[in-house]
Amino acid sequence: MIFARKIASPSPAPAARLIGLGSYLPSQKVSNADLASRLDTTDDWIRTRIGIAERHVADPDTATSDLATEAGLRAMKSAQVEHVDAVILATATPDHHVPGTAPVVAHRLGLPQVPAFDLGAGCSGFVYATTVAAGLIHAKTAGTVLVIGAEKMSAVIDPADRSTAPIFGDGAGAVVLTAGHAGEPGALGPAAWGSDGEHADAIIIPGGGSRSPSRTTADLDDLYVHMKGNEVFRHAVRRITHVTRQAATAAGWAVQDIDRLIVHQANARISAAVANGLGIPNERVPANIARVGNTSAASIPLLLSHSAIDGQLKAGQRVVVTSFGAGFTWAATTLLWPVSLQALA
Ligand code: UT7
Repeated sequence: MIFARKIASPSPAPAARLIGLGSYLPSQKVSNADLASRLDTTDDWIRTRIGIAERHVADPDTATSDLATEAGLRAMKSAQVEHVDAVILATATPDHHVPGTAPVVAHRLGLPQVPAFDLGAGCSGFVYATTVAAGLIHAKTAGTVLVIGAEKMSAVIDPADRSTAPIFGDGAGAVVLTAGHAGEPGALGPAAWGSDGEHADAIIIPGGGSRSPSRTTADLDDLYVHMKGNEVFRHAVRRITHVTRQAATAAGWAVQDIDRLIVHQANARISAAVANGLGIPNERVPANIARVGNTSAASIPLLLSHSAIDGQLKAGQRVVVTSFGAGFTWAATTLLWPVSLQALA
């Protein structure tokens, strides 16, 4: 008698899976006309050179933790979970240097004693944070992680500086990730990421840190963001293009397979140059920069949330999220869009 040998079918590789998505914008808007009334700029320049029409700005009593908590609440409601095992907050504008902002957010979300920490990687912070969260999930250190990107950029932008004031806005977005398997809807692919500190001074808040503690009024300007716009622009296009290819390749996708490219909303011309360089048609590259500006680490989850609500992200689509920011830092990952995900804004 011959027995057929039972061959165990290989179990699919573990992956972090997206199950919740939310975002929050403070209600106050600042239009280009508002800016042009007090700065040497025009609505036309801002629209054509950056692609922004308006941005949301938090009131003086609102801090990054407030924005983050609102987005976190929406993401957990979207995921239909009341508990997560860890909270990671990507931000360049924490409430304070000490303590971290994430524990405050976790406390306000009713998550007592869960591990919670801030992650600083500039505008790439959110994709870095999802990468760390996926690692925690793979290692079974955490089953479910809340990842938030939140910024009050208006706290660190000089309102009198026309090279930065038109660009940045405030806001927050968040996702809930849990354990799943590669290839299933919602699964994140491997991340590609990197940094280059040689360009640390290209986007910098020079004062207030250990290198240059600001304790005199003469240092006030050093507490604002200083940016070498042209240099950042050139590197952003090159790095985002490259890291997008790397993430797609790592997932076994051709660039042509990408249904939606979610690019960090820094400048509409950066997104267009990346799409053009990769040969991805513009209709596959959603954008919300016109209404929110550059929200740094909040940019990617805000765009995911708005694109899902607008019906631009559909079940099973092959999505790449890709970002670049201060450091320099850059990061990208693939994502199969989930079947039943209701984004809440
Ligand atoms: O999130 C990651 C971090 N940020 C970024 O990725 C931003 C990347 N950089 C950029 O988006 C662009 O470089 C900026 C939007 C910052 C600047 O645009 P640009 O096309 O690179 O302008 P530019 O700095 O080369 O300046 C062009 C001209 C200059 O005038 P001249 O010298 O040609 O007479 C500037 O003085 O535009 C002038 N200019 C402005 N004019 C009106 C610069 N800022 C303004 C302004 N309004 N706000």
